[in-house]
Amino acid sequence: AAESDVKWLGTPINELKRMPECGGPLPPLKNVPGQHTVMIRTDLLQNGKVPVPYPSKFKDTWDDVHVKMPCSSWNMFPVKDEVMGFFCISILYNYIICLLQDAILNYSASNARKWDFTALHLYCSKPIPLLKGGMNHSITMSQEQVACLLANAFFCTFPRRNSRRTEYCNYPDINFFRLFEGSSSRKIEKLKTLMCYFKSFTEEKPTGLVTFTRKSLDKPLNWKSLRTPLTNLHITCEGTIEDDGYGMLQVDFANQFVGGGVTSSGLVQEEIRFLINPELIVSRLFTEALDHNECLIITGTQQYSKYTGYAQTYQWSGSHQDTTPRDGWQRRCTEIVAIDALQFRNFLEQFRPEKINRELNKAYCGFARPEEQKQNLAAVATGNWGCGVFGGDTRLKALLQMLAAAEAGRDVAYFTFGDSQLMTDVYNMHSFLTRRKISVGEVYDLLGQYYSSVCKTCLGRRPVVSLYSFIYQQVSSSLAPEDSDRGSARQ
Ligand code: AR6
Repeated sequence: AAESDVKWLGTPINELKRMPECGGPLPPLKNVPGQHTVMIRTDLLQNGKVPVPYPSKFKDTWDDVHVKMPCSSWNMFPVKDEVMGFFCISILYNYIICLLQDAILNYSASNARKWDFTALHLYCSKPIPLLKGGMNHSITMSQEQVACLLANAFFCTFPRRNSRRTEYCNYPDINFFRLFEGSSSRKIEKLKTLMCYFKSFTEEKPTGLVTFTRKSLDKPLNWKSLRTPLTNLHITCEGTIEDDGYGMLQVDFANQFVGGGVTSSGLVQEEIRFLINPELIVSRLFTEALDHNECLIITGTQQYSKYTGYAQTYQWSGSHQDTTPRDGWQRRCTEIVAIDALQFRNFLEQFRPEKINRELNKAYCGFARPEEQKQNLAAVATGNWGCGVFGGDTRLKALLQMLAAAEAGRDVAYFTFGDSQLMTDVYNMHSFLTRRKISVGEVYDLLGQYYSSVCKTCLGRRPVVSLYSFIYQQVSSSLAPEDSDRGSARQ
């Protein structure tokens, strides 16, 4: 076939593992103090029924380890009236909701009977723990509870979250006020996408659960010592992580503040994913900025919208019926991992050993599941992580992600987002390394050699020898001449 007809290379995608088929049995869902906060009645959990919140009465807390809720009796805001002094928001909040309900119903009298405002009234009954830096903790809540929190975010009711100068300065923005400012058409497409979610939610309440897990790698790996072989690679210049990577561990090219600019003006990979699967946005309420050795895993979110275009050309293109099967905890089998790459302004920086270590450990933290059997792990669905807005080199990042995935025991489905040259180059490198049985540690060592012999001494902005040609040269010259394979020694 002509080269331009080739749309994928490597292992056929159907041979890579996906959930739920590859998964092992789930342990029973239960609240474990200090590890897993479960905000629903697990004893009443039933397929197709809206989960029952737990506990049933709102437990009011106002401290530095839980989300400060709009309905809290401690939620005071200053009012101009000197007699009143402070107004208690919980009273005001109920009042506003009733007014809003009346207003909506008066305006749309014909719908009065079929509309239901439970979500608007529903409070999350358990204080939501903050997922702070260094914590290894999960929160499981119902899609209904998520929707209630997102309705509050839309109305900007979360206290102490409207300014950067509060105790939440190291958390992403949650209130949507910046989404409403400005007149750009991109904002309108973002709003259409979110409205589609709220509309779909009110038409038919989803009945599943979503789990948010913050996880850190307690100690960095000694990459040089690893003798693990590379795993399988499927690489394609067509398709996307979300469409073609269903059932796989899907990478979110994240910001350390998860969701990046989703509630303001951002509109690239991470923000788009948060818009089409808006339940992801709730993670911004309680996830402190990710540290170098941390990730956030979100399991069970649903896709509500379709889109076309990207960034400037992004457009909402209608509602999406998500048919992803649910697991034993009533979660959609969609596992997304937020890992934030480093941003590089100077191209050569990224080849420094300490930067390479950081990116490898970050990816490994996201991909590894030491508590699970390797044979139950789905492939990683990824692509040009850190190589758009963050300025990284695609060929280096592809290699780093292959090393991290291999060490985690997962195959890789790599989406080059239209770049067929990248597809060919990465495929050739992967087959060269696997044919010669070059291990994770040996590739790591080659990266170190590349830094010291090419990048360190480089005077210009770009290295004179590319990473891939350097690897081909080094490996081929270290082998007996008859073994050397220059056939694929193209860059
Ligand atoms: N599937 C596969 N590949 C994709 C997809 C997709 N759906 N969308 C984009 N790509 P970028 P970064 C490719 O710039 O450099 C956000 O604001 C496409 O080639 O989003 O890690 C975050 O919040 C694109 O150029 O990721 C961070 O602040 C490349 O992936 C920041 O951007 C990189 O996408 C992260 O920037």
